Amino acid sequence: MTLMTSLADWPCVALPRADLAPRTTMRVGGQAELLLEPANPDEFQQARKACVERGIVPRILGGGANLLVADGVLPGVVIATERLRRVFRPGAGGESEEEAVAQMPGEFDMELPSGEIVQDDPARDPRLVAWAGCTLPHLLRTARDLGYSGLEGIVGVPGSLGGGVAMNAGGRWGDMWDVVESVRVLDSGGEFKDLARVDCTPTYRNGGLGNEWVVGAVLKFEPKPTPLIQEAMSDYLRTKNKVQPVTEWSAGCIFKNPPAEVSDGRSAGLLVEQSGGKELTCGDAAVSERHGNFIVNRGKACAADVFELMETVRKYVLDATGVELEYEVKRWTNEPDEGEARPS
Ligand code: EPU
Repeated sequence: MTLMTSLADWPCVALPRADLAPRTTMRVGGQAELLLEPANPDEFQQARKACVERGIVPRILGGGANLLVADGVLPGVVIATERLRRVFRPGAGGESEEEAVAQMPGEFDMELPSGEIVQDDPARDPRLVAWAGCTLPHLLRTARDLGYSGLEGIVGVPGSLGGGVAMNAGGRWGDMWDVVESVRVLDSGGEFKDLARVDCTPTYRNGGLGNEWVVGAVLKFEPKPTPLIQEAMSDYLRTKNKVQPVTEWSAGCIFKNPPAEVSDGRSAGLLVEQSGGKELTCGDAAVSERHGNFIVNRGKACAADVFELMETVRKYVLDATGVELEYEVKRWTNEPDEGEARPS
């Protein structure tokens, strides 16, 4: 595969040998042979098409919050959604007047599925359109400032809208899909398609979109005074800070919580703790002292350390409790069939 010979032929910014570790919250892993950075939905579609034409199955990189990338060079193409970062009110087009004008044609603020579009009174139409690369913290701040309630429960979750929708990010206080009105995806034929909430079946940590790529979503909130939203966010964050290593490099929870009937209602973190797994380390990778379902990079860990530690923890839990934990975190290794067409 000759990806590098004609960088200018790609329909968007193309970066050879791009470091992936800084683009993930665990800060481990190697390089992408080629990284594409589309800046709007049309470029995203064109980037996909260009890969298909070259016989490449690309991987999609969102906020890198739930992703572990192997060391070395990852062959093929990674498409990063980082530049697809806009969030705006329906009909408003963009974050500024200039952007609104520049992005009008062909972009999906023009084709919202339903509802009255009111530009001058946010409370009358408490919806936002967010593109896949919009970070969840930015989305939450925007909603809060507009007096839009509904996503407070995922405060402190890093990552992007696309990844959050694809995997139904969330926790005890709510999930991403609680506010999804519709999702725009690129389907397997490379066409934009809008899916209404009623036609989707998100479940625990799974948006149910299969291999379709999230381009963006229309989100519907409830109006609420900004100070009340802020108060709820602060409360959740304080609670979370006490039990999770939120300021350290990690990939969030490593394992899914097993079904209650399998684990007697014990969470993955508790199972790790009860199995003695909280003491485990491998190089600079360590199971968090705060929460057994987190592995933290103490500074110089490499991906191999993290992968080895994950397997050791899984084995500890299996031996001690008989429960087989399933990975929540996504892994990109150099194996040929690992390419995944979903945001990470
Ligand atoms: N616990 C322990 N020891 C530990 C960890 C947890 O005893 O080392 C106990 C806690 O005391 C608590 C129970 O286990 O009684 C559950 O722990 P926690 O409240 O932290 O929730 P969780 O089920 O471990 C889930 C999500 C998190 C989300 C939190 C809070 C999963 C796999 N994890 O964690 O999401 O932040 O709820 O809403 O669903 C993520 O998905 O990456 C993630 C971090």
